[in-house]
Amino acid sequence: MPGSPSRCFALVPCAGIGERAQAGGPKQYAVVAGRSVVAHTLAALTAVRGLEAMLVVLAPEDRQFERHAPAFQGARAWVARCGGATRAASVGHGLDELRRRGAGEHDWVLVHDAARCLLRPAWVESLMAACRDDEVGGLLALPLADTLKESIAGPAGVRVAHTVPRAGKWLAQTPQMFRLGLLRRALEAAGTGVSDESSAVEALHLAPRLVRGDIENLKLTWPADFALAERLLETRR
Ligand code: CTP
Ligand code: MG
Repeated sequence: MPGSPSRCFALVPCAGIGERAQAGGPKQYAVVAGRSVVAHTLAALTAVRGLEAMLVVLAPEDRQFERHAPAFQGARAWVARCGGATRAASVGHGLDELRRRGAGEHDWVLVHDAARCLLRPAWVESLMAACRDDEVGGLLALPLADTLKESIAGPAGVRVAHTVPRAGKWLAQTPQMFRLGLLRRALEAAGTGVSDESSAVEALHLAPRLVRGDIENLKLTWPADFALAERLLETRR
């Protein structure tokens, strides 16, 4: 609605298969510290102040979500089985669903990976505070701490091709916060290959704001990540 203040919606892509995690099924339903990965993620998002509603995007054939996230229900907790073949497609379909449910082109959307289950509400609130008046939007990210190597694979194994200067390099996390209309245009133009929302927006020659995140906001990706997440979650109790 023109003139009305922008609202913030969360969009949680949860339609992946978790190939790298080898968890015996979609990693978002693996149980870590007593409940599923996605249940942890949604509990954190539910505690964020200032979110209008939350949409979880599932694979069309998903039969597990309701069992693994039983507490996720209510007028502002939405589920849509409209996931696509790539993360970008899942997010794009989710934006259409948000539009159908009343979100405006000018409203903010915070896209957050279901697999990033160590999220703390304060991190999301700091992103919202930093981006709410921004022209473009932004993302949580972490300045690179380690020395970065570019590799080359050959008959003698994987070796260092060269060292990439780490100054000015950041690791992108989520949430990533953009206005719905801009993000939809960006994803349509970028196609399905982008691995985050920011890349799509950058391709429009816009510069998203980098907001310092936290090293604990890791994305469960590899088999060993689950035990690490479990340890971190246990020590938070
Ligand atoms: N995702 C999605 N739709 C896809 C692919 C990914 O909604 N087609 C979601 C995942 O469920 C996850 C988030 O995007 O919450 C981040 O993606 P990633 O960590 O790559 O998860 P997967 O694609 O499931 O894992 P992998 O790449 O190892 O298969
Ligand atoms: Mg993936």
